[in-house]
Amino acid sequence: MQVIHSIHEMQSLAIQMRTQGKLIGCVPTMGCLHEGHLRLVDIIKEKCDVVVLSIFVNPTQFGPNEDYERYPRAMESDLAMCEGRGVDIVFAPKAEEMYPANFSTYVNEELCSRGLCGDFRPGHFRGVATVVLMLFNIIRPDVAVFGQKDAQQVALIKKMVSDLFVPVTIQVAPIVREEDGLAKSSRNTYLSAPQRKVAPEIFAALQLARTTADGGEHRAKAVCDVVQAHLGKFPDFRPQYISIVDSTTMQPVEEITPGQTLLAVAVALGTTRLIDNIQL
Ligand code: PAJ
Repeated sequence: MQVIHSIHEMQSLAIQMRTQGKLIGCVPTMGCLHEGHLRLVDIIKEKCDVVVLSIFVNPTQFGPNEDYERYPRAMESDLAMCEGRGVDIVFAPKAEEMYPANFSTYVNEELCSRGLCGDFRPGHFRGVATVVLMLFNIIRPDVAVFGQKDAQQVALIKKMVSDLFVPVTIQVAPIVREEDGLAKSSRNTYLSAPQRKVAPEIFAALQLARTTADGGEHRAKAVCDVVQAHLGKFPDFRPQYISIVDSTTMQPVEEITPGQTLLAVAVALGTTRLIDNIQL
């Protein structure tokens, strides 16, 4: 496995590999890897000749009062996990090289990034779209994979790729969960033992929504009320949004259309913000 820090070196190698006809697969991450990330590697490995996993805690997607500084970093164990899973290249650029002092170009997607996390994390999706396009331009992937865990991120990246004619195929991977249902996340390491114990109730609430919708209740508000009522039983939860949206545009709907709608939630638990979603 090769570890590359230099942008120029990564881009030159990518161009060389493409000339050789190799299919490049890309797994963008912010590191502190867990099984959720590694499943993305498995998925992309099946489709490509070379797997490039990027590790970059992207400063522009964190708000001024967010956790950029304390975001968990675990380069050594990340590299061991990548090696074990058959990653070919880890690309770990330096923030100073990605964002030199005179950096001034950003990508704004203006439909899918509205609402949900977009309301609570101003500027977040601008940072995500910008860094993902930069990574695509450096790694030159044929295929890139993103997790459904971050459903709004998936929607806006697909939209950016389509609107800007970016020559890459976007693959989506299902949410990987802990045994008790909590969606795996690097931020789960922030949770105290009592918080960790209550956190799976978020997924329990989503499953109640699924049961309710499967039972024939297709009014979005009624289904959201079921989720709200369940989360309300746990005083430590401070729900930020509980919303049923169109899975392509991420905009709210009043009626559930099976296969086309998504219930998405964000819940603050202490100082940690957890997100999850379920297709309805
Ligand atoms: P990060 O949070 O490290 O996640 C990297 C990728 O792993 C994302 O596509 C995310 O959706 C996926 N992922 C995380 N947890 C998952 C889980 N439990 N199940 C399935 N997939 C999961 O998302 C980012 O980094 C950044 O915003 C990034 C796209 C790298 C841009 O900086």
